[in-house]
Amino acid sequence: MATTIKRIGILTGGGDCPGLNAAIRGLGKAALFKGIEVVGIQDGYQGLIENRTVELGLDELSGILTRGGTILGTNNKCSPEKYHEGNDQTGKPIYSNAVDRCMANAQEHELDVLFVIGGDGTFTCTKPLVEAGLPCLGVPKTIDNDIYGTDLTIGFTTATRIGTMALDRLHSTGDSHHRVMVCELMGRNSGWLTLASGLASGSDVILIPEIPFDIDNICLFVDGRRTEQSGFSIIACAEGARAINGKQVVSQHIDASPDPIRLGGIGRQVAYEIELRTGIETRTTTLGHIQRGGEPAATDRVVATTFATAAFELALDGKYNKMVALNNGHMEAINILEAAGKQRLVPKDHRFIRAAKSVRTCFGD
Ligand code: F6P
Repeated sequence: MATTIKRIGILTGGGDCPGLNAAIRGLGKAALFKGIEVVGIQDGYQGLIENRTVELGLDELSGILTRGGTILGTNNKCSPEKYHEGNDQTGKPIYSNAVDRCMANAQEHELDVLFVIGGDGTFTCTKPLVEAGLPCLGVPKTIDNDIYGTDLTIGFTTATRIGTMALDRLHSTGDSHHRVMVCELMGRNSGWLTLASGLASGSDVILIPEIPFDIDNICLFVDGRRTEQSGFSIIACAEGARAINGKQVVSQHIDASPDPIRLGGIGRQVAYEIELRTGIETRTTTLGHIQRGGEPAATDRVVATTFATAAFELALDGKYNKMVALNNGHMEAINILEAAGKQRLVPKDHRFIRAAKSVRTCFGD
């Protein structure tokens, strides 16, 4: 059946991650080869509100498969329902609802469907557009791997590789100086990235948000390693980890953002407590945005291209307002609004946790 789609829009929203360009390329090329025009929207929803777009042809889509970041730019602080217009005379921010502007701009560009490559925050921003009648399709991405409804997201595999490499390298100093080396990884409220990187690097202690820790248990464990083993310990600590009865450590609040809390700082606190209580020299490394940078691993290129082209097939089939998802090895499509505003956390009995505990990894619980 011939498709009625003539023009599509693509935007990337939320934090950048490796594989976004691979997804843009997959979608864009699949459309162009069907004779469909492709409009790139710059800087996520901010570009749709401000009507900043770029036509994407084969020239723009060539040579980007291996590039980190996103050629379209992205934004994790702008929501169509709470657009920052500027500040009043007292410096107070003025916000407005810009859903109508998004709809008018989508209409001006004659977009038959908007492809949104994003995470739960971006899909939450998509909700009012879906409700206003714009056909949308979602492609899940985030290094956090915490999008509801899919076992894997674009960016996670590369970030895990970077996290693993960092933890591997910290072994050298830990071993040589008999220190405890704490490494803080990203991941927001989920521990997937820290758990996978910690497991892959054989970290001695893994701290994730889903398993609140007791600092005394960690100290007992690293102290035991000092006397019984080589004397050093590697700790993979998620930015969202917290002590039992403690709170997550917040580094910043971003008012207008769909995801207003920026986490950070728990690694330092854990290191300080360990050194204070055990007397073992303890150092902290915070990986930060290094985890999101650089070229995507082969798996992320495959995942990005597969997700993007699967989303395009949904459009060809006239199926809208879905997000493509991987479930037990099968490609599926779930309602995009189902994924909005939810988080997929690590189940406490997940096989990765059981595997790590079997090889005597401490979770501080
Ligand atoms: O969601 C991806 C992520 O990298 C999180 O792991 C992290 O908490 C957050 O984004 C950081 O956001 P920003 O780039 O705005 O500091």
